[in-house]
Amino acid sequence: MNENNKLYHELMKAAIDARGRSYSPYSGFSVGAALLTKSGRIFTGANIENSGYTATVCAERIAFFRALSEGEREFSAIAIAGGAKEEPDSGVAPCGVCRQVMSEFCDGNFKIILLDGGLTVLTLGELLPMRFDRSNLIKK
Ligand code: THU
Repeated sequence: MNENNKLYHELMKAAIDARGRSYSPYSGFSVGAALLTKSGRIFTGANIENSGYTATVCAERIAFFRALSEGEREFSAIAIAGGAKEEPDSGVAPCGVCRQVMSEFCDGNFKIILLDGGLTVLTLGELLPMRFDRSNLIKK
């Protein structure tokens, strides 16, 4: 196992752990995420639902906003685990809104690590091609 694999397994372990702290009584779908900063810190998140459904926030965005509000701006990878509560080992790909949030702060090489039997490592460029980002609004 190379260094990155070891790191990604560690990150996924943190995501699975965070999944256990999901508040998802309405969907029964629990998600955990673990975000790795370029400085080596890990920020976790779990989905938090609300009886007013639109107030629900995904695990990935909670991890991002926790890190961003602590001043972090550079990220290298996020691991995501999630699915129906009775399926502890299932995987889920990030929703479109979360991909857009990632795209604000991460380049196409940002790694997205999913559970799929083993670990599947994808990039933001693969999951969100032809994105709309700050370069469309701010020309320099
Ligand atoms: N969810 C996430 O937390 N992340 C995703 O990438 C997909 C969906 C949550 C939102 C909601 O609480 C539940 O999963 C079902 O949509």
